[in-house]
Amino acid sequence: MPTDSNLPQPAQTSSEPASPAKRAAVALAVTVAATAGAMLALGDAAYLWVKSVHVIAIISWMAGMLYLPRLFIYHCEAETGSKQSETFKVMERRLLQIIINPAMIVAWVLGLWLGWKAGFFSDGWFHAKLALALALSGVHGYFSAAVRAFAEDRNTKPPRHWRIVNEVPTLLMIGIVVLVIVKPF
Ligand code: HEM
Repeated sequence: MPTDSNLPQPAQTSSEPASPAKRAAVALAVTVAATAGAMLALGDAAYLWVKSVHVIAIISWMAGMLYLPRLFIYHCEAETGSKQSETFKVMERRLLQIIINPAMIVAWVLGLWLGWKAGFFSDGWFHAKLALALALSGVHGYFSAAVRAFAEDRNTKPPRHWRIVNEVPTLLMIGIVVLVIVKPF
C-alpha cells in the first residue's frame, strides 16, 4: 500500500518559476527597453545588433520547439503517475516557460522592428515570412496546450503523433530561413 511519502510530490511552491504572464511581460519590457537603448546609443549600427539578438532568440525558440515534442514522445511512454512522468512534467513546463515563451516574444518584437526599420513591410518575401512565423506561433500554441494536457495526465495522442508533429517546426524553419536570406520575391 503506497504511503503519501511514496507518491510523487508536487513541485515546491517556493521554487516555482514566476507566472507565464509575468515572464512574458518581463521579456517584452526588457526587449523594448534594450532596442530603444540600442537605437539611442548606436544609431544606424543598432540594426545589426538588433538582428544579432533576433537570431539568438530564434535559435533559442527553435531549440525548444524541436526538443519539446521529443519530450512528449518519451512522456507518452512513461507510466501515468510514475516518477519519470512527473519529471517530464517539470521539464516540459520549465522549457516552455523559461526558454520558449520569452524567446518567441523577443523574436517577434525585434523581427517586427527590423522589418519596420528596413522598410520590408511592402515586400512579398516578408509577407510570406510573416505567414510562416504565424504558423510557427500556432504550433507553439498547440505545444503549450499539450504541456497543460500532459501536466493534467490528459494526453490521448500516441508517440507516433508527436513524431510527426516534431517535423512541422523544422519544415517551417527551412522555409523562413530561405525566405529571409534569399528574398526570392
Ligand atoms: C516572429 C516573426 C519574425 C519576424 C517579424 C522576422 C523579421 C525579420 C527581419 C525583418 C529580419 C532582417 C532581414 C534583413 O535584414 O535582411 C530578420 C532576420 C532574420 N530572421 Fe527573422 N523574423 C521572424 C521570425 C524568424 C524565424 C522564426 C526565423 C527562423 C526560424 C528567423 C530567422 C531569421 C534569420 C536567420 C535572419 C538573418 C537574415 C540575414 O541577415 O540575412 N526569423 N527577421
